[in-house]
Amino acid sequence: MAMKIIEAAPARRVLRWQSTMTRPRGWVCHSCRSNVAVASRRFLSTPPSATDKPYYVTTPIFYVNAAPHIGHMYTTVLADVFKRWQTLLGNRAFLCTGTDEHGMKVQQAASLAEMAPKQFCDENAERFKELAHLARVDYDRFIRTTDPDHVEAVEHFWFLLRDKGLIYETKHEGWYSVSDECFYPESQLVKHQEAFTGAVYMASAETKSKVEWVEEKNYCFRMTELKDRLLKFYEKNPEWIEPAYRMNEVVHWVKNHLEDLSISRPVQRLSWGIRVPGDPSQTIYVWVDALINYLTAAGFPDWAPGESHKGGWPVDLHIVGKDILRFHCVYWPALLMALDLPLPKKVLVHSHWTLNKRKMSKSLGNVVNPIYAINRWGVDTTRFYLLSEGGIADDADYNNNTLVIKYKKFLQWGLGNLLGRLTRPKAWKLRDIIVNSFNEKAASRPQLSNTLHRAVADFEHALAEFAPTVAGRMEKHNPVGAIRKVLETGTQLNEFLSQTQPWALVKSPDPTQKAAAERVLFLVAEGLRISGILLQPFLPDKAAQLLDILGVAPDKRSFAHTVLRCDPDYGVPMSDPGRSRQDGLFPPLIEDSVIEFGGNIKARKKATSTDAIVQTEE
Ligand code: ME8
Ligand code: MG
Repeated sequence: MAMKIIEAAPARRVLRWQSTMTRPRGWVCHSCRSNVAVASRRFLSTPPSATDKPYYVTTPIFYVNAAPHIGHMYTTVLADVFKRWQTLLGNRAFLCTGTDEHGMKVQQAASLAEMAPKQFCDENAERFKELAHLARVDYDRFIRTTDPDHVEAVEHFWFLLRDKGLIYETKHEGWYSVSDECFYPESQLVKHQEAFTGAVYMASAETKSKVEWVEEKNYCFRMTELKDRLLKFYEKNPEWIEPAYRMNEVVHWVKNHLEDLSISRPVQRLSWGIRVPGDPSQTIYVWVDALINYLTAAGFPDWAPGESHKGGWPVDLHIVGKDILRFHCVYWPALLMALDLPLPKKVLVHSHWTLNKRKMSKSLGNVVNPIYAINRWGVDTTRFYLLSEGGIADDADYNNNTLVIKYKKFLQWGLGNLLGRLTRPKAWKLRDIIVNSFNEKAASRPQLSNTLHRAVADFEHALAEFAPTVAGRMEKHNPVGAIRKVLETGTQLNEFLSQTQPWALVKSPDPTQKAAAERVLFLVAEGLRISGILLQPFLPDKAAQLLDILGVAPDKRSFAHTVLRCDPDYGVPMSDPGRSRQDGLFPPLIEDSVIEFGGNIKARKKATSTDAIVQTEE
C-alpha cells in the first residue's frame, strides 16, 4: 500500500491513500489530475483515536423541485436537536443537511420552469438553506449534490463498485416512478384513479405515484449478492432502526422483493446528473448519487488508513422520514457493505405531518409553509410545536389550534408564568435566595412543617431525577419524550409553588417562615435553571433568554451543570424579565391571522385552523 498526500484543492491539503482496497486501479480523481505537481508529497498519519470522531448526524437531502414545507423543517430541526444535545454533553458534533439536485424529478421541474437545471437548483437550494437559517439549524455542512467534491466522491464510489465486479450492464425493463425516483416491481403496483381528474393510471400501491414502463440499457448493482449479509446484519442489530418495529417491514422487503438495483439511466432520458465514469452515454441513478452525500460530507474518499472516523464516519444518526425507509435501510447498507465500509450506527425513522389527516403533499398543494409559520409564531414556538407534538411512531396532524393551546399550557402559563412568579415579585431578590441557600449550614436549617417538609423533599428528589430522565430519553432517541419531560416539570414546578405559597411565608415576621419560603424559591430557581439548560437543544433562543434572565453564566450552561446545587453564582439577571405577562419570555400569541389571497389582505379573523399558513405550491 502506498500512501501519499496531495493537495486536492488549493485551499485544502488532503491525504490520499492509494491501495487496491479503496482506490481502484487506473483511476485518478479530478483534483489529483489537476495537481500532479504536488502529488508526490508524503506525510504520515497520526494513530487513530476514538475521541477524534465527532458525533455525526444527518438529515435527508431534499429535492429542489419545489419549496420546502413543514415536514422538511421537522426532520431538519430533529437533527439539530440531536447535534445540540451532543454539544450540551460536551461532545464534538457534526450536522450535515443539504439538497438533492439531480435526477428526472428535478430535470422535469427545471424544464417546466423554463430554466437551466443548474440555475434552477441554485435558486431552490437557497430556499432550503434560508429555512435552515431561519429555523436556527446549526449545520456544519450544507451539501449540494452538484458540489464538485460530491461529484468526485460518487465517481470514486462507482469505480470501487465496478472494481469489485458488482456492476454489470443489462437491458432493463420495469415500472419507473419519476416522483419517487425508483422502479417498482409489478407486485407492488395498483390501478389508481386520481381523485380530482378521474384519470386512471398504474401507480405504486404504497405512494400512489404514477409509474411508467421503461425499457433501456442500464447498469445494475448486484444487490442480491448481499441479501444474506443484509439479513444477518438486521438479525444481529434488531435496534438499528428506531422505532424497532420498522425493522419488520425492512426484513420482509429484503426477503421477498430484493432484486439487483438499476443504477444508471440513458443520457437521452436523464441528462441532469453525474455521468457514469467511462460511459458518458449513461447517467448515475439519483438515489445512488444522493446517498453518497453522507460519505462526501465525512471527507470520503480522502481518508487515510484507519482515519475515516476523523471526518465523522460512520454516521451516528441518520434521520429520515418513513417515505425513504427502504433507501436508507436496504440500498444504503447494501452499497456500503459492498465496499466493506462501516455502516451507520442508527437510523431514526419518523412519521409524517398531515393536514386535516391527509398527508401533506406537494401535488395536492396542502403543505404548510414553514417560513410563514416561523414569521407568525416565532422560531422557537414553531420548533416547540413540531418537536413536542410531531410523531416519530405515528403521523401527526398539523393544526394551529393545537399549537396555540399547547403554547398556552406549557410555555405561557407553564415556564413563562413560573419565571415571572420567581423573578418579578418585589418581596424577594433572586440573588439573595441563591446566596442564602449556599450559605446555609445543614445543622442550622429551619425546621419546616411536616407538609412543607414532604413537599420540599419530594421536589428535591424529582429535580435530582430530572436531567438523567431527559438524558435517558435522548439516549433512546426519544426527543418527544425528552422535551415533554422538561415541559411537564414546568407544570409541576408551578403546582409546587401554588401548594407551598412562598409569597405568604415570606411576609411572616417569623424568620423560620421566611427561611422556609427561601427553600421553596431556591428549588423553583433550580428547577428553572435546569430546565433552561436542558431546553437549549430544543428552543435555543428562548432557553438562552431564560438563562439570561436567571443570570446563569454562559460557561455554566452545559449538561454537567444540571446537577442540583452546582452553581452558586447565578441570580443577577443579565436580561430584563419584563414587568407583565405581555412582555415576558412567552407573551400571549397574537391569534389574529391575516388571510392573504393573491397577495391582497382580504380579511382578519381568529386562527381556528391552519388557514393563514396553508400555501399552495408555487
Ligand atoms: O426523498 N412529514 O427528498 P424529499 C414529515 N431527496 N417529514 C416530511 C414530510 C412530511 N409530510 N414530507 C417530507 C427525498 N418530509 C430524497 C432524499 S436522502 C439521501 C435523499 C421529510 O424532498 C422527511 O424527512 O422528498 C422525508 O424523508 C424527506 O423530507 C423527503 O424529502
Ligand atoms: Mg419526497
